[in-house]
Amino acid sequence: MFRNYKAIGRILYGRNSFDQLDDLLGELRVEKNSYVLFLLDVYFEGKEFMKRVPLHAQDILKIIEVKDEPKTKIVDAIVAEVKSLNKGLPVSVVGIGGGSVMDYAKAIRLMFTNEGSSALYQGIDLIRNKGVHCTVIPTISGTGAEVSMTTVLTGPEKKLGIKGNFTPADQLVIDPALIASVPEPHRFYTAMDCYIHNIEALNGHRKTVMGDSLGTESLRLCREIFLSEDSHTPENDEKLMIASYLGGLSLTYSEVGACHAISYGLATVTGIHHGVGNCIVFNQLEEFYPEAVKEFRAMMKNNNIDLPKGFNANRSSEEIEKMIDVSLTLIFMWAHVCGPDWQKIITREKLRGLLLKM
Ligand SMILES: [Fe+2]
Repeated sequence: MFRNYKAIGRILYGRNSFDQLDDLLGELRVEKNSYVLFLLDVYFEGKEFMKRVPLHAQDILKIIEVKDEPKTKIVDAIVAEVKSLNKGLPVSVVGIGGGSVMDYAKAIRLMFTNEGSSALYQGIDLIRNKGVHCTVIPTISGTGAEVSMTTVLTGPEKKLGIKGNFTPADQLVIDPALIASVPEPHRFYTAMDCYIHNIEALNGHRKTVMGDSLGTESLRLCREIFLSEDSHTPENDEKLMIASYLGGLSLTYSEVGACHAISYGLATVTGIHHGVGNCIVFNQLEEFYPEAVKEFRAMMKNNNIDLPKGFNANRSSEEIEKMIDVSLTLIFMWAHVCGPDWQKIITREKLRGLLLKM
């Protein structure tokens, strides 16, 4: 059976297109009491940009802390809080920020219409009811969360996405001007998530012509940006936004691989951010992606990035074993990397050896 994929709904694209957001949401505000739930990255708290968010009197604005990866308990708490106001359902949940904020928006909109904790739905196709309308607006690029059919959440037991046809957002706004102020090295680490998505999508048993075509173009843009003299120009910002979009789409038709399988374990135990966690892991994966790891190091050098060293140097053996446990649950990723007999290749010992090098 082939999956009948649901991609993103509508896309508004262009420099300063963010200023059309009020018009977009106006189309949804049909009832007198209609309201929008805005989720805004804490990065913008107190900044001029907040004045540009088209907040109406009846709307709700939540500032989203992004120190940790998105958590099921925060999704549940926000949904419970908004429901307790007895305002009915929002006409759109709008996530303005990085991958975490967009993933919160995608998860929260689902939990308005599905009973119980979001932790019950971590997995594939477990969501039963369509969520409310969702708008995502990236302000940092690389995760592909703006287009993916997954919202990655850390629950009480696992870090795993809510994945399925109900997850992609209904509206995406791609405004390259919004990522101009992202500080380094945060911008680089998040962008490398995109680079790694492409490398993983292009190398594995589940690759397809569709995934390859999208991933190849995204990879070309990543190379142009990060091997250029100045990666942080308006032109490169625009390329990065499109690379992230194409890279996220390429995963719909392929799969992530060894880096993500290990970095999920790393993040579950340490809470490290996805972008930098991926970079720490990818730097040790010559065995899986020899040419790409070389290229990745050249990109780091070109952009004066000093990757954290000795990240696992003082971890207890329990922590390392827990990382391995989580990594080994990601069977579809390992099957993509090594084929159906992956368990013969990806042993606990191999993973332990890699983790201790990080
Ligand atoms: Fe990723």
